[in-house]
Amino acid sequence: MQKELVTAATHLQGELMIPGDKSISHRSVMFGAIAQGTSKISHFLFSDDCLHTISALQALGVKIQRTTDSVTIEGVGFNGFTPAKQAIDLGNSGTSTRLLMGLLSKQPFPITFSGDASLSKRPMQRVIAPLQKMGATITATDENYLPLTIRSNHKLTALDETIPVASAQVKSALMFAAMQADEPSHLTELAQTRDHTERMLRKFGGQVDITGLTLTVPPQPQLKAQSFRVPGDMSSAAFFILAAILVSNSEIRLKQVGLNGTRTGFLDVLSRMGADIRVENIDSDFEVSGDLIVSTSSLKATEVGGTEIPNVIDEIPLIALAATQAQGTTVIKDAAELRVKETDRIATVTAELRKLGAQIEEQPDGMVITGPTPLKAVTSDQLDSHGDHRIGLMLAVAALISQGHLTLNAAEAINVSYPAFFTDLTNLLN
Ligand code: S3P
Repeated sequence: MQKELVTAATHLQGELMIPGDKSISHRSVMFGAIAQGTSKISHFLFSDDCLHTISALQALGVKIQRTTDSVTIEGVGFNGFTPAKQAIDLGNSGTSTRLLMGLLSKQPFPITFSGDASLSKRPMQRVIAPLQKMGATITATDENYLPLTIRSNHKLTALDETIPVASAQVKSALMFAAMQADEPSHLTELAQTRDHTERMLRKFGGQVDITGLTLTVPPQPQLKAQSFRVPGDMSSAAFFILAAILVSNSEIRLKQVGLNGTRTGFLDVLSRMGADIRVENIDSDFEVSGDLIVSTSSLKATEVGGTEIPNVIDEIPLIALAATQAQGTTVIKDAAELRVKETDRIATVTAELRKLGAQIEEQPDGMVITGPTPLKAVTSDQLDSHGDHRIGLMLAVAALISQGHLTLNAAEAINVSYPAFFTDLTNLLN
């Protein structure tokens, strides 16, 4: 689908309730499924990715009902799943695939996963290898890719492992497997990644001990159903945060955004760059949330790398856009993981921002961007999401500060994480 983008915006004003967090929504139905009792999750994100987690669990016999804003899950425990009639299609969703691989690694029947063209190119060996060490058998295309089959399995042994990639998806998959192992497992991270699984495990009554970067996950937790509200997704709020910073005469309030410290690196980076962002109405449940008030700001260049990367991994396309408007040269490094996201985001960000005249150089593990550069279409090529939601959404923000007429190819990709984006944008433009 082609979408005409709003360009040369004059202001953004008003307030928005940001849709539910994608990572937390996925995990909420997974924990709801393995708990005892009925969980009710409100402000759930009904985006394509989270709908794939729901339909996967439904295919395995879990009763999940949807109302406008919430889902109700009737837990079946780890032992109550039933075989799916066919391969489970996980669409574009890496989080569904990787987390469910761990969660389903000890089922007494085989389960096959398939996905779209992008998901079928994403590496799964990072989850397969440690799960095989625990005793699971997973047969994958070229030992790394979907389609893959998790073979019937009756036993998992504990794992003591330094996870070789700083990935919350891998960590979470191993945590779900560790819950079904014979002894406590010890999982060490290379750098702190988002800790939603740890928090939710405790919320559902399970235990995880955390010492520095090492998690100890004991087996056989007695998980009890829970009901809660999913906070707004920081990674979705990020598009409007940057839009309000870059578009002149803007001040917006984003309500009840998740402020988990493993997700707020984007706010730190923007603050270093000189952005005016305030936090109000903090609410501390098992996940912290609050309102963000963001105003037009002028930016200066910064450096982003090292252990900060996992905390900003999904916001790097936006940091690159911010850098095009900042005074000086911004360096983004240590971010080679971007090459194995929904697209190679180093390549797609560079190619797309260049179409708008940005001075941006691709590096093996990041980008170097020099600003400020006024953006406008400098080639006749249309902007393209490349089927990647975060690229499409970043380009819709770039368009707001660009001159001329711009259209976005494959705009439907945004439905993966933020189906209401264009409606929310229209509200802030009025
Ligand atoms: C996610 C973790 C991140 C992130 C993805 C969601 C999660 O991936 O990019 O959008 O919910 O755990 P990695 O953990 O593979 O970096």
